[in-house]
Amino acid sequence: MTDLRRPEPLDPSRHDRSGFDSGEPALDDWLRRYAGQNRRRDTAATWVIATVKREVVAYASLAMTAIDRSAAPGPIAKRAPDPVPALLLGRLAVDHRLRGLGIGTTLVAHVLATAAELNAKAACRAVVVTALHEHARAWWERLGFHPFDPDDPADTDLYLLTSEIQVTLDTLEQ
Ligand SMILES: CC(C)(COP(=O)(O)OP(=O)(O)OC[C@H]1O[C@@H](n2cnc3c(N)ncnc32)[C@H](O)[C@@H]1OP(=O)(O)O)[C@@H](O)C(=O)NCCC(=O)NCCS
Repeated sequence: MTDLRRPEPLDPSRHDRSGFDSGEPALDDWLRRYAGQNRRRDTAATWVIATVKREVVAYASLAMTAIDRSAAPGPIAKRAPDPVPALLLGRLAVDHRLRGLGIGTTLVAHVLATAAELNAKAACRAVVVTALHEHARAWWERLGFHPFDPDDPADTDLYLLTSEIQVTLDTLEQ
């Protein structure tokens, strides 16, 4: 496999995003056009995995968010303030030529470790994500994420409690 760098913050002046192709044009476009400005405006932080030549092969965008307690699943809402503090994993994409090699999982593991650090410093009850489609939902469930509405197979909103992160990280290390 191509030698890859560890997850690092996107540096628009050093990383090459031009050839990134996840197979999802909207995700590619966001990386090229909006990731930099979201970072400058402090509205989303983008982490990337890149080759040694700094060509981006995967990215994840993160932002702090708040969950409406009345709409939250029991484990999130229980004895929590309203709204409930959380970390939003807004976008995740891996270049389609490097799919199935564990790169997406590696980046999510990095995001989960970041959430645990944030929780220690500022409190964050859960990591939340909206899966791109039902197929992607199964991918998140494999990592321990739970659907907001387990009774609705079409529901693509998922969460992982911060208190569950270590279990997922331990499972991935095995
Ligand atoms: C979803 C995505 C990020 C996954 O990245 P990836 O690097 O290919 O994934 P990984 O290689 O880390 O994971 C592969 C594992 O997931 C499993 N897997 C793949 N698709 C799956 C699915 N639909 N349900 C459950 N497991 C699945 C594989 O069997 C493999 O498991 P193994 O390691 O036990 O063999 C990538 O396919 C992608 O960018 N897709 C397009 C954009 C997208 O859907 N993003 C998600 C946004 S919410």
